[in-house]
Amino acid sequence: MKPTNKKFISNFTIFEYDEVPSTMDIVKQHEPNTVIVAETQTAGRGKYNRKWSSKTGNLYFSMILEAKNKTKDYSQLSFLSAVAMGNALLSQDGSMNIQYKWPNDILLNQKKICGILLESDLSKNQVVIGIGVNIKTFPENVMFKASSVKNEGFENVTSSVTLEKFLVQFSNLYRLWMEKDFSVIREKWIKKAYNLGEKISVKLENEKFEGIFEDLDKDGTLLLHLEDGGVKRVKSGDVF
Ligand code: BTN
Repeated sequence: MKPTNKKFISNFTIFEYDEVPSTMDIVKQHEPNTVIVAETQTAGRGKYNRKWSSKTGNLYFSMILEAKNKTKDYSQLSFLSAVAMGNALLSQDGSMNIQYKWPNDILLNQKKICGILLESDLSKNQVVIGIGVNIKTFPENVMFKASSVKNEGFENVTSSVTLEKFLVQFSNLYRLWMEKDFSVIREKWIKKAYNLGEKISVKLENEKFEGIFEDLDKDGTLLLHLEDGGVKRVKSGDVF
């Protein structure tokens, strides 16, 4: 298993592969600011170790970053990545109806086209972000209805341009986040938040809550207004 190409975009070194088990694991063998991108994955994974269907035609990549600033909450990078990817897609066709679904999915016409997976090992000062974008194909029989960019009518969007634009967007937003705080990212995310102010169901590992999606807190926590009047703070989970 060897890369077929190496290139540089922004301050990232990118290795391209035809096929890997999962870009998440390959990237962990590299230095910070490396990106691994693959045409297909034989063991692509999603949140909660769910299988991530990885047929050719879509974009699958992971990036590794150094996470040594103790004042930063690196889990916020999943929101930052969503906004960067949303911008990358919109820069190719501004008419796309892009929305962000808490905590870190991207929807196009209310269907999931992108998933983001964050795996951090703070003992090694490392955070790995993995992103899958359904450019051409999409899986059926998934928990939340999926689609692809092409299936929604945007035939001109390509994996390679999407990755390039994403890396430029990510670098700019990362700099902003480092210099300032999460509020700049939160503002951009909330403008396109899916189901904000509406009734949602939040599934945690062993519990389920229903309520109104009231706000995204200043640190990225979901604030759910429960029927009994209380407010539940949810740091991670699935929303339906
Ligand atoms: C999710 O929505 O559950 C997150 C999906 C993340 C999928 C990407 S594809 C590239 C990278 N490699 C993996 O095995 N997973 C992530």
